[in-house]
Amino acid sequence: MTLRRVNVVILILLAVAFLIIVQRNLLNLSDFLHKENADARMILPFESELSPNTRLDLDRKGEEIPVLITASEDRLGAVIAAMNSVYQNSKANVIFTIVTTNDTADHLKLWLSRTKLKNVKHKIIVFNPDLLSGKISKDPKVAESSTPLTFARFYLPLFIPEAEKAIYLDDDVIVQGDIQELYETNLKAGHAAAFSDDCDSTLAKGIIRGAGNQNNYIGFLDFKKEAIKKLGMRANTCSFNPGVVIANLTEWKNQNITQQLEHWMELNIQEDLYSKTLAESITTPPLLIVFYKHHSSIDPLWHVRHLGTTGAGNRYSPQFVRAAKLLHWNGHYKPWGRVSSFPEVWDRWFIPDPTGKFHPVRRLQEPLDQLSPSLKSRVGH
Ligand SMILES: *[C@@H]1O[C@H](CO)[C@@H](O)[C@H](O)[C@H]1NC(C)=O
Ligand SMILES: *[C@@H]1O[C@H](CO)[C@@H](O)[C@H](O)[C@H]1NC(C)=O
Ligand SMILES: *[C@@H]1O[C@H](CO)[C@@H](O)[C@H](O)[C@H]1NC(C)=O
Ligand SMILES: *[C@@H]1O[C@H](CO)[C@@H](O)[C@H](O)[C@H]1NC(C)=O
Repeated sequence: MTLRRVNVVILILLAVAFLIIVQRNLLNLSDFLHKENADARMILPFESELSPNTRLDLDRKGEEIPVLITASEDRLGAVIAAMNSVYQNSKANVIFTIVTTNDTADHLKLWLSRTKLKNVKHKIIVFNPDLLSGKISKDPKVAESSTPLTFARFYLPLFIPEAEKAIYLDDDVIVQGDIQELYETNLKAGHAAAFSDDCDSTLAKGIIRGAGNQNNYIGFLDFKKEAIKKLGMRANTCSFNPGVVIANLTEWKNQNITQQLEHWMELNIQEDLYSKTLAESITTPPLLIVFYKHHSSIDPLWHVRHLGTTGAGNRYSPQFVRAAKLLHWNGHYKPWGRVSSFPEVWDRWFIPDPTGKFHPVRRLQEPLDQLSPSLKSRVGH
């Protein structure tokens, strides 16, 4: 073949390729227009100005999945990343109730409204700290380690009164599975909540061993105190982590769970019932008492935790972290801090603060989120 023939062949091939691409896009376009028209009949005229993406967001129908999460000013980026991960990984009709403090509400509203989270269904509720008066210590040493918002999960029916079933999530989580699946966690008859047991897998056992008695009741409660002894609980009972909770709010109300939890908080103020070595959440002990042998379980992959208990070195293999449905950075080393495990996983869901007030301490590696969706799809999946 002469050089010229080769050129002609290449030209023809290019032309064919071009036609194929054009045809495909035209097909897609007509598909798209078709859909647009079908929708247009049911919607108000001004809505047709919204982008197709926005439309998809607004189209979420079906059973509402109520998710309660808290937002505190010093870690507002956490709730943003957590919400984004829940939302992007599901087509379910998720509705967030965000419990926050008075001085944070405006910052949060602004962050949500100026980013792609603006169409996510949500309610912002300001937590009234008076709710906890007489129930949490005024000792500044204790108070420092616990923001009142930590206790929001005790008041689920108060914040989501209309729901029968709801999910509570800590803010330091990333959801990688479809939240619908977590929502469908089966609660046994008579159970008001499901949690992840701290010895629900050999894997978790190995992990927690390093943290003292933090996988059983004696790690959280002082079994020498009369009020605890009287309950007749076994000290070596496996504890659970209340960072992810699925609740049946009908049962919660019927059993007066909130009042029971408040009772133990008040009694602790008088009698100091919690373990002296209590490392982490001060919300755990009352929950352990009230739900002793009376709660359902969450699939272990839906609460892979302790990502925050070491800063250096990863506890899990990257394959396992990829397979996890929900990751929880409980512990001191948060993924927005200077050192942590798998910060790159968290970064993928973080959306920068439009006010610039919050930023992860370490440098963001790949701000993929800031690319436009079309650019992103060109970059590849
Ligand atoms: C066009 O539609 C085809 C099949 O429906 C799909 O595979 C392709 O990704 C679409 N292309 C664009 C640019 O949307
Ligand atoms: C929130 O703060 C505003 C002014 O800063 C005040 O008027 C309002 O009463 C506060 N609300 C609550 C629930 O504390
Ligand atoms: C919640 O509890 C009530 C009362 O026991 C029960 O009738 C209902 O089926 C439960 N709902 C769910 C979603 O488990
Ligand atoms: C819950 O509280 C109500 C009113 O305070 C009371 O009548 C009811 O007996 C309590 N139920 C349980 C299970 O403690």
